[in-house]
Amino acid sequence: MAESLNGLKRTSMCGLLRETNVGEKHVVMGWVQRKRNLGGLVFIDLRDRDGILQVVFGEEINKEAFEKADLVKSEYCIAVEGELVKRQSPNETLPTGMVELKGQSIKILSESETPPIYIKEDLDTDEMVRLKYRYLDLRRPDMQKIFKIRHKIAKVVRDFLDENGFLEIETPIMTKSTPEGARDYLVPSRNYPGMFYALPQSPQLFKQLLMVSGFDKYFQIAKCFRDEDLRANRQPEFTQIDMELSFVDMEDVIEVNERLIKRIFKEVGDIDVQLPIQRMPYKEAMDKYGSDKPDLRFGMEINDLTDVVKNCEFKVFKDAIENGGSVRAIKAPTCADMGRKQIDKLGEFVKTYKAKGLAWMAYKADEIKSPISKFLSEEEIKSILDKVDAKQGDLILIVADKDSVVLQALGALRLQMASKLELLKDNKEYKFVWITDFPLLAYNEEEDRYQAEHHPFTMPKDEDIEYLESDPGRVRAKAYDIVLNGEELGGGSIRIHDTKLQAKMFKVLGFTKETAWERFGFLLDAFKFGPPPHGGLAYGFDRMTMFLAGTENIKDVIAFPKNQNAFCPLTEAPNVVDENQLEELGIKKSVTDNK
Ligand code: AMO
Ligand code: AMP
Repeated sequence: MAESLNGLKRTSMCGLLRETNVGEKHVVMGWVQRKRNLGGLVFIDLRDRDGILQVVFGEEINKEAFEKADLVKSEYCIAVEGELVKRQSPNETLPTGMVELKGQSIKILSESETPPIYIKEDLDTDEMVRLKYRYLDLRRPDMQKIFKIRHKIAKVVRDFLDENGFLEIETPIMTKSTPEGARDYLVPSRNYPGMFYALPQSPQLFKQLLMVSGFDKYFQIAKCFRDEDLRANRQPEFTQIDMELSFVDMEDVIEVNERLIKRIFKEVGDIDVQLPIQRMPYKEAMDKYGSDKPDLRFGMEINDLTDVVKNCEFKVFKDAIENGGSVRAIKAPTCADMGRKQIDKLGEFVKTYKAKGLAWMAYKADEIKSPISKFLSEEEIKSILDKVDAKQGDLILIVADKDSVVLQALGALRLQMASKLELLKDNKEYKFVWITDFPLLAYNEEEDRYQAEHHPFTMPKDEDIEYLESDPGRVRAKAYDIVLNGEELGGGSIRIHDTKLQAKMFKVLGFTKETAWERFGFLLDAFKFGPPPHGGLAYGFDRMTMFLAGTENIKDVIAFPKNQNAFCPLTEAPNVVDENQLEELGIKKSVTDNK
């Protein structure tokens, strides 16, 4: 029993009718949230994208409509025509709660089986089921709200960038691998058996080519594909708000982006972002927070104890310092009475970050309790307390090792303690920070060579260029990340547009001329023809939406996401294909089907 509209026109969305509409005739369409039959009256809560409206049918109002209304069940799709009246018992919790539609006629547009998930807010059904029936999951009001937010962000971005002279230009999805550093998704070619396209990890090289073309300012809301380990804030297929600008330096990119961020957060979330946004060099972020994406909503900064313990008796500390490492600490307030077992757990926690152990000092009312106090003089203990500005009740947590391990372990421990102490519970702050002065190159110990930290086209800072060959590790980049509450929201850089400097960079990275040309020849070719100075930035659009929608799972902001194993439970992709499809592509399987 599926009726057609037969010319019936909707006059209003369910969720938009108010007392001012009382007395009007209306046609509404949507899904049945709930039906109740109270004897002579049938009440239906009718739901559409904009909300829920109560519709009432009565034997007295229209008998035929009443009987038909009584047939409907949850999630039937219906159309109702009637008069809007004031409700006798208003429902304060609904925006439409002062009114109801007196149903004169009803069309059952389609029936519904009992849905496998509840269409309601705050659903805690298994994720696999939610993703398998994603179209029903997306009917839920909280999901619909998220996609309205996502749309609004895209709209504000487009409006703002248009007003500021950017052109939206699409770049290819089937392309050659771009140098973003994750694993590529590959697409086999039929025309060239044995050859592959790569799906872009970002539009990086194309946007640079567009600058060579003279488009001046480009943007795109671009799909990107990276085959990497998935986490709560990572999907294999995600979206960037990507931009590139000509004739700019870092300050210009930051300036326009601060205005963009302010506008998005104000218009979409009614959140005031104070400009200018704080900046912090990479080194400071690492030293204080053990992370290049520090969460600045709370303190608990890392303190360097190396100087005060360098002559102590504790071998672990002494060895670490002698080997060029350091001893550093964080201070957890109110934790001095933490039990031994719990502290041991923290020790286990830092071990997952390669620390070999965790030393501690508890500042109790009448004593300092610590397993390492026997190795320290009274003076050394006092210096440590002074250095971290300890107060009674504090627990000092110390790691000794090479710097990278110490900082990473304490950075992670800092976040762990904040979560234990519920420091961020109900915190509504938005702490933005630009991280600048990244190292241009990262040393890869396993391969004994330098690698580009960002990508090989990132411009070194002017004053560091002279060290590019003599001391590559100290060269800082004109690269910047925008970080919000401990998450990397976006990142970018000024690019090298000077072919001589680029050649030097390739040399430092260990590329031969041939390998550089093989991989990036088309860009290098383009740069022979008057490339303008240029730079840009890309935001994780999904991550930005997560902040504005207040969710911690990236899947919530993507209509049809993959699960943690990069699988789509709805379409069951990836999946096998016909043998003849493979044959056409010249592909022979060497693995048996994974089904
Ligand atoms: P980058 O690799 O830093 O820069 O990516 C930019 C932003 O994209 C988001 N992001 C992701 N979001 C969800 N899932 C993922 N797997 C994922 N990976 C990255 C992050 C990140 O900050 N071409 C350069 C930009 C430039 O230099 O202009 C680039 O892609 O929020
Ligand atoms: P030990 O004498 O080896 O039992 O160590 C004494 C304390 O030092 C224990 O609390 C260990 O967890 C801690 N410890 C061991 N290695 C380190 C390290 N690299 N950094 C900080 N503390 C450590």
